Amino acid sequence: MIEIENVRKSFGPLEVLKGINLAVPKGEVLTIIGGSGSGKSTLLTCINGLEAIDSGCIVVDGTDVHAKATDLNKLRRKLGIVFQQWNAFPHLTVLENVMLAPRKVLGLSKGEAEAIAVKQLTHVGLAEKLKVYPNRMSGGQQQRMAIARALAMSPEYMLFDEVTSALDPQLVGEVLDTLRMLASEGMTMICVTHEMKFAREVSDRVAFFHKGVMAEIAPPEELFGAPKDPELQAFLAATH
Ligand SMILES: Nc1ncnc2c1ncn2[C@@H]1O[C@H](COP(=O)(O)OP(=O)(O)OP(=O)(O)O)[C@@H](O)[C@H]1O
Ligand SMILES: [Mg+2]
Repeated sequence: MIEIENVRKSFGPLEVLKGINLAVPKGEVLTIIGGSGSGKSTLLTCINGLEAIDSGCIVVDGTDVHAKATDLNKLRRKLGIVFQQWNAFPHLTVLENVMLAPRKVLGLSKGEAEAIAVKQLTHVGLAEKLKVYPNRMSGGQQQRMAIARALAMSPEYMLFDEVTSALDPQLVGEVLDTLRMLASEGMTMICVTHEMKFAREVSDRVAFFHKGVMAEIAPPEELFGAPKDPELQAFLAATH
Protein backbone atom coordinates (compact mmCIF):
# COMPACT_ATOMS: atom_id res chain seq x y z
CA MET A 1 0.00 0.00 0.00
CA ILE A 2 1.16 3.52 -0.80
CA GLU A 3 0.17 6.05 1.85
CA ILE A 4 0.62 9.74 1.18
CA GLU A 5 -0.04 12.00 4.15
CA ASN A 6 -0.22 15.75 3.99
CA VAL A 7 2.69 16.01 1.58
CA ARG A 8 4.00 19.47 0.81
CA LYS A 9 6.71 20.29 -1.68
CA SER A 10 8.04 23.58 -2.98
CA PHE A 11 10.54 24.49 -5.64
CA GLY A 12 11.90 27.80 -4.35
CA PRO A 13 8.96 30.12 -3.76
CA LEU A 14 6.58 27.91 -5.74
CA GLU A 15 4.53 25.46 -3.71
CA VAL A 16 3.86 22.58 -6.08
CA LEU A 17 2.20 20.09 -3.69
CA LYS A 18 -0.03 21.72 -1.11
CA GLY A 19 -0.87 18.98 1.36
CA ILE A 20 -1.68 15.84 -0.63
CA ASN A 21 -3.49 13.00 1.14
CA LEU A 22 -3.96 9.76 -0.74
CA ALA A 23 -3.82 6.04 -0.05
CA VAL A 24 -3.44 3.53 -2.86
CA PRO A 25 -4.14 -0.04 -1.76
CA LYS A 26 -2.60 -3.08 -3.42
CA GLY A 27 -4.33 -3.92 -6.69
CA GLU A 28 -5.76 -0.47 -7.31
CA VAL A 29 -5.43 1.35 -10.62
CA LEU A 30 -5.40 5.06 -9.91
CA THR A 31 -5.15 7.60 -12.67
CA ILE A 32 -4.17 11.21 -12.11
CA ILE A 33 -5.43 13.90 -14.43
CA GLY A 34 -5.00 17.66 -14.32
CA GLY A 35 -3.55 20.66 -16.11
CA SER A 36 0.07 21.32 -16.87
CA GLY A 37 2.04 22.31 -13.77
CA SER A 38 -0.55 20.95 -11.32
CA GLY A 39 2.05 18.75 -9.58
CA LYS A 40 1.31 15.31 -11.07
CA SER A 41 4.87 14.40 -12.10
CA THR A 42 6.28 15.89 -8.92
CA LEU A 43 4.09 13.59 -6.84
CA LEU A 44 5.32 10.51 -8.73
CA THR A 45 8.96 11.50 -8.29
CA CYS A 46 8.34 12.07 -4.57
CA ILE A 47 6.73 8.62 -4.26
CA ASN A 48 9.84 6.86 -5.50
CA GLY A 49 12.19 9.16 -3.62
CA LEU A 50 13.70 10.92 -6.64
CA GLU A 51 12.58 14.20 -5.06
CA ALA A 52 12.63 15.13 -1.38
CA ILE A 53 9.48 16.44 0.27
CA ASP A 54 9.21 19.42 2.63
CA SER A 55 6.70 17.96 5.08
CA GLY A 56 4.24 15.13 5.50
CA CYS A 57 5.20 11.57 4.65
CA ILE A 58 4.98 8.87 2.03
CA VAL A 59 4.96 5.29 3.24
CA VAL A 60 5.22 2.28 0.93
CA ASP A 61 4.42 -1.07 2.55
CA GLY A 62 5.44 0.31 5.92
CA THR A 63 8.66 1.96 4.69
CA ASP A 64 8.91 5.73 5.02
CA VAL A 65 10.31 6.73 1.62
CA HIS A 66 12.01 9.89 2.86
CA ALA A 67 13.38 8.60 6.16
CA LYS A 68 17.17 8.82 6.37
CA ALA A 69 17.59 5.12 7.10
CA THR A 70 15.57 4.01 4.07
CA ASP A 71 17.46 2.06 1.43
CA LEU A 72 16.15 3.84 -1.66
CA ASN A 73 17.63 1.35 -4.10
CA LYS A 74 15.79 -1.47 -2.39
CA LEU A 75 12.58 0.55 -2.29
CA ARG A 76 12.81 1.46 -5.97
CA ARG A 77 12.88 -2.20 -6.96
CA LYS A 78 9.33 -2.30 -5.67
CA LEU A 79 8.32 0.84 -7.54
CA GLY A 80 8.73 0.64 -11.29
CA ILE A 81 8.53 4.00 -12.99
CA VAL A 82 8.09 4.75 -16.69
CA PHE A 83 8.32 8.28 -18.06
CA GLN A 84 7.22 9.99 -21.24
CA GLN A 85 10.49 9.08 -22.86
CA TRP A 86 13.24 6.74 -21.88
CA ASN A 87 16.58 6.85 -23.60
CA ALA A 88 17.63 3.29 -24.13
CA PHE A 89 21.31 2.53 -24.62
CA PRO A 90 21.64 2.78 -28.41
CA HIS A 91 24.59 0.39 -28.67
CA LEU A 92 22.74 -2.40 -26.85
CA THR A 93 19.97 -4.55 -28.33
CA VAL A 94 16.48 -4.43 -26.91
CA LEU A 95 17.16 -7.66 -25.03
CA GLU A 96 20.46 -6.35 -23.62
CA ASN A 97 18.79 -3.11 -22.54
CA VAL A 98 16.15 -4.99 -20.56
CA MET A 99 18.74 -7.37 -19.06
CA LEU A 100 20.88 -4.55 -17.72
CA ALA A 101 19.12 -3.73 -14.44
CA PRO A 102 18.43 -7.34 -13.42
CA ARG A 103 22.13 -8.03 -13.92
CA LYS A 104 23.55 -4.88 -12.33
CA VAL A 105 20.98 -4.15 -9.62
CA LEU A 106 19.68 -7.62 -8.75
CA GLY A 107 23.02 -9.31 -9.46
CA LEU A 108 21.43 -12.06 -11.55
CA SER A 109 23.50 -14.27 -13.82
CA LYS A 110 23.42 -13.64 -17.56
CA GLY A 111 21.16 -16.64 -18.11
CA GLU A 112 18.71 -15.63 -15.39
CA ALA A 113 18.57 -12.02 -16.55
CA GLU A 114 18.06 -13.13 -20.14
CA ALA A 115 15.19 -15.43 -19.19
CA ILE A 116 13.44 -12.61 -17.34
CA ALA A 117 14.04 -10.12 -20.14
CA VAL A 118 12.71 -12.50 -22.80
CA LYS A 119 9.65 -13.19 -20.66
CA GLN A 120 8.83 -9.52 -20.11
CA LEU A 121 9.53 -8.48 -23.70
CA THR A 122 7.27 -11.28 -24.88
CA HIS A 123 4.66 -10.13 -22.39
CA VAL A 124 4.56 -6.64 -23.94
CA GLY A 125 4.48 -8.07 -27.47
CA LEU A 126 8.12 -7.57 -28.44
CA ALA A 127 9.24 -11.19 -28.79
CA GLU A 128 10.24 -10.48 -32.39
CA LYS A 129 12.45 -7.53 -31.46
CA LEU A 130 14.93 -9.04 -29.02
CA LYS A 131 17.99 -8.57 -31.24
CA VAL A 132 16.97 -5.24 -32.69
CA TYR A 133 18.60 -1.94 -31.70
CA PRO A 134 16.27 0.55 -29.98
CA ASN A 135 16.50 3.21 -32.70
CA ARG A 136 15.04 0.71 -35.18
CA MET A 137 11.79 0.54 -33.24
CA SER A 138 8.71 2.74 -33.36
CA GLY A 139 7.93 5.08 -30.47
CA GLY A 140 5.23 2.73 -29.26
CA GLN A 141 7.60 -0.22 -29.32
CA GLN A 142 10.20 1.82 -27.44
CA GLN A 143 7.68 2.65 -24.75
CA ARG A 144 6.71 -1.01 -24.45
CA MET A 145 10.41 -1.83 -24.11
CA ALA A 146 10.59 0.72 -21.28
CA ILE A 147 7.65 -0.99 -19.60
CA ALA A 148 9.31 -4.41 -20.02
CA ARG A 149 12.48 -2.98 -18.53
CA ALA A 150 10.59 -1.84 -15.43
CA LEU A 151 8.70 -5.15 -15.17
CA ALA A 152 11.98 -7.09 -15.33
CA MET A 153 12.67 -5.91 -11.77
CA SER A 154 9.45 -7.60 -10.57
CA PRO A 155 7.99 -4.41 -9.11
CA GLU A 156 4.92 -4.48 -6.90
CA TYR A 157 3.85 -1.00 -7.95
CA MET A 158 4.10 0.74 -11.29
CA LEU A 159 4.13 4.50 -11.76
CA PHE A 160 3.44 5.78 -15.28
CA ASP A 161 3.97 9.41 -16.20
CA GLU A 162 2.25 10.29 -19.47
CA VAL A 163 3.79 7.33 -21.23
CA THR A 164 1.81 7.99 -24.41
CA SER A 165 2.06 11.74 -24.75
CA ALA A 166 5.21 11.78 -26.89
CA LEU A 167 3.72 9.28 -29.35
CA ASP A 168 2.04 9.71 -32.71
CA PRO A 169 -1.68 9.14 -32.31
CA GLN A 170 -1.64 5.80 -34.15
CA LEU A 171 0.92 4.41 -31.68
CA VAL A 172 -0.92 5.43 -28.51
CA GLY A 173 -3.32 2.49 -28.62
CA GLU A 174 -0.71 -0.26 -28.45
CA VAL A 175 0.89 1.26 -25.34
CA LEU A 176 -2.48 1.79 -23.64
CA ASP A 177 -3.32 -1.85 -24.43
CA THR A 178 -0.16 -2.88 -22.58
CA LEU A 179 -1.23 -0.80 -19.57
CA ARG A 180 -4.73 -2.32 -19.73
CA MET A 181 -3.19 -5.79 -19.72
CA LEU A 182 -1.13 -4.97 -16.60
CA ALA A 183 -4.21 -3.55 -14.89
CA SER A 184 -6.22 -6.68 -15.71
CA GLU A 185 -3.43 -8.79 -14.19
CA GLY A 186 -3.86 -6.97 -10.90
CA MET A 187 -0.79 -4.71 -10.98
CA THR A 188 -1.04 -1.76 -8.58
CA MET A 189 -0.65 1.29 -10.80
CA ILE A 190 -0.62 5.06 -10.61
CA CYS A 191 -0.95 6.48 -14.12
CA VAL A 192 -0.66 10.16 -14.91
CA THR A 193 -2.44 10.53 -18.22
CA HIS A 194 -4.12 12.89 -20.64
CA GLU A 195 -6.08 10.01 -22.18
CA MET A 196 -9.52 10.52 -20.67
CA LYS A 197 -11.11 7.52 -22.39
CA PHE A 198 -8.34 5.29 -21.01
CA ALA A 199 -8.72 6.80 -17.51
CA ARG A 200 -12.45 6.17 -17.63
CA GLU A 201 -12.08 2.54 -18.72
CA VAL A 202 -9.16 1.31 -16.67
CA SER A 203 -9.24 3.18 -13.35
CA ASP A 204 -10.65 2.14 -10.04
CA ARG A 205 -10.37 5.80 -9.05
CA VAL A 206 -9.39 8.99 -10.83
CA ALA A 207 -7.75 11.93 -9.03
CA PHE A 208 -7.91 15.46 -10.41
CA PHE A 209 -5.00 17.74 -9.53
CA HIS A 210 -5.25 21.50 -9.74
CA LYS A 211 -2.47 23.88 -8.70
CA GLY A 212 -0.89 21.46 -6.24
CA VAL A 213 -4.16 20.35 -4.67
CA MET A 214 -5.98 17.08 -5.21
CA ALA A 215 -9.28 18.79 -5.90
CA GLU A 216 -11.36 15.67 -6.46
CA ILE A 217 -10.99 11.90 -6.30
CA ALA A 218 -13.71 9.44 -7.22
CA PRO A 219 -14.48 6.35 -9.26
CA PRO A 220 -14.42 7.23 -12.97
CA GLU A 221 -18.17 7.06 -13.56
CA GLU A 222 -18.63 9.60 -10.76
CA LEU A 223 -15.69 11.86 -11.56
CA PHE A 224 -16.46 12.05 -15.27
CA GLY A 225 -20.22 11.66 -14.98
CA ALA A 226 -20.91 14.11 -12.18
CA PRO A 227 -17.81 16.22 -11.48
CA LYS A 228 -18.27 18.46 -8.44
CA ASP A 229 -15.19 20.66 -8.44
CA PRO A 230 -15.67 23.71 -10.73
CA GLU A 231 -12.06 23.52 -11.94
CA LEU A 232 -12.58 19.88 -12.85
CA GLN A 233 -15.74 20.78 -14.72
CA ALA A 234 -13.80 23.40 -16.70
CA PHE A 235 -10.91 20.96 -17.31
CA LEU A 236 -13.23 18.26 -18.64
CA ALA A 237 -15.11 20.73 -20.81
CA ALA A 238 -11.80 21.82 -22.35
CA THR A 239 -10.52 18.28 -22.97
CA HIS A 240 -13.66 16.86 -24.59
N1 LIG B 1 13.04 20.45 -10.58
C1 LIG B 1 12.22 21.51 -10.60
N2 LIG B 1 12.68 22.74 -10.26
C2 LIG B 1 11.88 23.81 -10.26
N3 LIG B 1 10.57 23.78 -10.56
C3 LIG B 1 10.04 22.59 -10.90
C4 LIG B 1 10.84 21.40 -10.94
N4 LIG B 1 10.05 20.36 -11.31
C5 LIG B 1 8.82 20.89 -11.50
N5 LIG B 1 8.82 22.21 -11.25
C6 LIG B 1 7.64 23.10 -11.30
O1 LIG B 1 6.64 22.54 -10.47
C7 LIG B 1 5.36 22.68 -11.04
C8 LIG B 1 4.70 21.33 -11.14
O2 LIG B 1 5.40 20.56 -12.08
P1 LIG B 1 4.97 19.08 -12.48
O3 LIG B 1 5.99 18.62 -13.44
O4 LIG B 1 4.75 18.28 -11.27
O5 LIG B 1 3.57 19.35 -13.21
P2 LIG B 1 2.66 18.33 -14.03
O6 LIG B 1 1.33 18.35 -13.38
O7 LIG B 1 3.34 17.03 -14.16
O8 LIG B 1 2.56 19.06 -15.44
P3 LIG B 1 2.55 18.45 -16.95
O9 LIG B 1 1.13 18.01 -17.20
O10 LIG B 1 2.92 19.62 -17.78
O11 LIG B 1 3.53 17.34 -17.00
C9 LIG B 1 5.56 23.38 -12.38
O12 LIG B 1 5.28 24.74 -12.21
C10 LIG B 1 7.02 23.14 -12.68
O13 LIG B 1 7.55 24.20 -13.44
MG1 LIG C 1 4.16 15.99 -15.75
